Amino acid sequence: MKNVLVLYYTQSGQLEDIVKNITLPFLDSQEVKVTFCDIKLEKPFPFPWDKHSFFDAFPESFLQIPAVVYPPSDEVLSRKYDLIILGYQVWYLSPSIPINSFLKSNSARQLFENTPVITVVGCRNMWVMAQEKVKLLLKDINAQLVGNIALTDRHINHISVITIVQWMFTGKKEKYLGIFPKPGVSDEEIKESPKFGKIILEHLQKNSFESLQADLIAGNAVEIRPFLIEMDKKANKMFEKWAGLIVRKTSSRPKWLKVFNIYLLVAIWLISPIVYILHLLKYPLVYAKIKKEKVYYKGV
Ligand SMILES: Cc1cc2nc3c(=O)[nH]c(=O)nc-3n(C[C@H](O)[C@H](O)[C@H](O)COP(=O)(O)O)c2cc1C
Repeated sequence: MKNVLVLYYTQSGQLEDIVKNITLPFLDSQEVKVTFCDIKLEKPFPFPWDKHSFFDAFPESFLQIPAVVYPPSDEVLSRKYDLIILGYQVWYLSPSIPINSFLKSNSARQLFENTPVITVVGCRNMWVMAQEKVKLLLKDINAQLVGNIALTDRHINHISVITIVQWMFTGKKEKYLGIFPKPGVSDEEIKESPKFGKIILEHLQKNSFESLQADLIAGNAVEIRPFLIEMDKKANKMFEKWAGLIVRKTSSRPKWLKVFNIYLLVAIWLISPIVYILHLLKYPLVYAKIKKEKVYYKGV
């Protein structure tokens, strides 16, 4: 009998939907016992978000400053797992506060020590640098990252910005104005995700995760868009400056969060289209580098 722990955090339910679909094939198997555990914060974030809370979460998300999380039940903690599936979302190009807080907790150290881990990202579309941060957090607790599945909104970047804002501030995953596409990971992709569970199950039964990521990639578990990597890296540099500044401004924090809000709008609607045009112009010159990066970020 194999023990699999599925750990996740979700506000809208999207990530729960994703991890439950991925692990559907496990439930048919007599050889696997699956335990689900959702991560809970002592002070939960609101959902739907209000504008202040949304921007107020920025500095601590980006700087990965942990909040207090409830430990999993004694029953969950008492077992040793053959595999952990960690479902997480990205907040401000970093693992969300509940996830980074959990990964820094004593419970995580106990559960993850010498245990194979598959990360499942469910986000808008900018996850590559957040995954690099998760890799470091997993390394710190001696976990072995063996696989990664990244499910995103596949629509044009700016369309996904408009629709996700609507979703986050109303709590409704619906077609905005009846004309925009539904936000987030598509229903079709979520419905198809048991295909990843089948791949994982084969490796679990073989007791080897060596070629797991290659098999997941063959099943389209990860799509890399070079322009998004470039934006992710550039934005990380800028966010570092902003987050550092805002945490130092304790008394004028609300004012600085408003300035950051304006910066973000300018970055998304003015700077990123310019970066996109430059990206296209220099594409042939940096083709070899992009090819190398694609291989690296698809892997674990
Ligand atoms: C505060 C906040 C910041 C976010 N930042 C990003 C981001 O940097 N990149 C990204 O791809 N998605 C980002 N998202 C979208 C989330 O990754 C995720 O898709 C969405 O919150 C739904 O997840 P859920 O399962 O918790 O409902 C952000 C969402 C929130 C609430």
